[in-house]
Amino acid sequence: MIDQRSLGKRAAARAVADSVKTGQRLGLGTGSTVTFFLERLAERVAEEGLRIVGVPTSEPTSIRARELGLPLGSLDAIESLDLAVDGADEVDPQLDLIKGGGAALTREKIVAAAAARFVVIVDETKLVARLGASFRLPIEVLPFGWRQSSARIAALGLRNELRREADSQPLRTDNGNYVLDAVLGPCEDLRALELELDAIPGVLECGLFVGMADEAWIGGADGSVRVIHRPTR
Ligand code: A5P
Repeated sequence: MIDQRSLGKRAAARAVADSVKTGQRLGLGTGSTVTFFLERLAERVAEEGLRIVGVPTSEPTSIRARELGLPLGSLDAIESLDLAVDGADEVDPQLDLIKGGGAALTREKIVAAAAARFVVIVDETKLVARLGASFRLPIEVLPFGWRQSSARIAALGLRNELRREADSQPLRTDNGNYVLDAVLGPCEDLRALELELDAIPGVLECGLFVGMADEAWIGGADGSVRVIHRPTR
């Protein structure tokens, strides 16, 4: 049986999929919530002849989308997207996000940045008063010299550890890199922290998505969906 959190994820994902218009070029995020979105899109393609093209942010999304028969393209061929849809690990009241629980953060950020509109789909449990409250901040780093990158991140006050697979081997992203999961304490200026992290040699991207999400669609276990728009700063 589907659990309460998944019911919320599915409600939000299906509502956004129902709002997609024919002809749209879509960024397809990564994770269990996005899987519900892909499934609803595929239903609409089959039932209504909805025409879309999607740019996947990970190999798992690419595989699932192909299984469902969704047309895919590359970002280099498509250039700009009408809408990117993705899950998140945490969403704060400013609609700033932590992403990367699925280790796809770098491609997710590139795709979200290429979209005219970026919509996040979550269940209620992802809403937090401050980022880092319940989830660690993923940071993608090059394997070469990763301990140096880790030490520089720690020097910023973010204790971190290498993400490992069940067999204790370092997890590799789709880009062949490592992920460091960092403890994020209270932070006055997330944008400045994002820039500081991204300036560390060996850091590809961090999972802070600051000022990027336009809307969060939040699903409840009862099937209800509410939409929050990014407040003007
Ligand atoms: C993938 O790297 C992440 O950013 C996901 O978007 C995030 O972990 C949400 O995943 P779920 O939809 O599975 O909760």
